[in-house]
Amino acid sequence: MSSNIEIKHIEKSKIASVDFNNLPFGSVFSDHMLTCTFKNGKWESPVIEPYSPISLDPSAKIFHYGQSIFEGMKAYKDAEGNTLLFRPLENCKRLNKSAERLVIPQIPEEFFMQGLKELLKVDEAWIPTNEGSSLYIRPFMFASGNGFHASPANEYKFMICTAPSGAYFAGKVNVLIEEKYARAANGGVGFAKAGGNYAAQFYPTQLAIEKGYNQVIWTDDNTHEYIEEAGAMNIFVRINDTLITSPTNDRILDGITRKSILQLAEDLNMAVEVRKISVAEVIVAAQSGALKEMFGTGTAAVISPISGFGFQEKDYELPTLEMPFASILKKSITDIQTNKSEDPYGWRVQL
Ligand code: PLP
Ligand code: COI
Repeated sequence: MSSNIEIKHIEKSKIASVDFNNLPFGSVFSDHMLTCTFKNGKWESPVIEPYSPISLDPSAKIFHYGQSIFEGMKAYKDAEGNTLLFRPLENCKRLNKSAERLVIPQIPEEFFMQGLKELLKVDEAWIPTNEGSSLYIRPFMFASGNGFHASPANEYKFMICTAPSGAYFAGKVNVLIEEKYARAANGGVGFAKAGGNYAAQFYPTQLAIEKGYNQVIWTDDNTHEYIEEAGAMNIFVRINDTLITSPTNDRILDGITRKSILQLAEDLNMAVEVRKISVAEVIVAAQSGALKEMFGTGTAAVISPISGFGFQEKDYELPTLEMPFASILKKSITDIQTNKSEDPYGWRVQL
């Protein structure tokens, strides 16, 4: 398969213009991108070419009916200069799960993995080596086929672009527990990484920002009594010494960071519960002092500690701890990702 990937190299790399010591998140792009087209019922051979704008017909169904899904993953360099990925097959499987729900054709695992590896080889110099930075990888698929008929397209693109990136959030985040809007509903597409889920988040998030918060804590669409996600992250709550996270469902993305953190926490002998968390329980715990930590988990942000939350016009502060679980777990996962510790789980994949 790798020999089938056509590679068109950039004439002059842009890398010298990039300040690797001051990387933003996801807005500086590496030299190359990978594109694979689905046409006449099959995937054509992938092409790696210089990163550039793409051309689509104005009637392409992505613009009208939102058939669009994506993934988020990262590549790291270890001290020896090896290129490392973290549980990449999980991203491929989830992309195909999202594809099924959005009636987008499945991308064969070999296409995804070989394409990704070849692209990383071509743009290896773009993988940051400084602490806290990595190469953010964005695989995505969308309907490039034409027509206003409201039905699935007959042509699709699978693409991978990469962006050397620093931290997603600058510091701790202050969140608002959402009582009116929902990012996803039962029977909907919340479990899929569909572009439309994020579009649906922007308006309520904008309202929360206007009130002085950074992010929204999503609650269940039916009762708004249970907390489910934090922005584009899964959420963990620590009450006394027990770490709690909601079980995944139709409305929640099955986060790869979430399941890795669950495993690491158990192996660090932390008490872990996967169960519904009610807003009422969090408020009572905040009032009694039993609420020690809340944090979001996700590829982009890794672990993002929450400094406080608002609910029904009242603000609650979280304590500042000397050794928060969030820091312990963040070190455990990033040490595995960057080859600073053993990986008994087989999560790390060396290129
Ligand atoms: N929840 C949502 C809605 C997300 O967009 C993400 C980001 O990918 C996550 C959770 C975390 O998932 P993962 O840990 O696989 O990145
Ligand atoms: C990620 O964590 O990789 C995500 O996809 C979140 C994103 C919306 C920035």
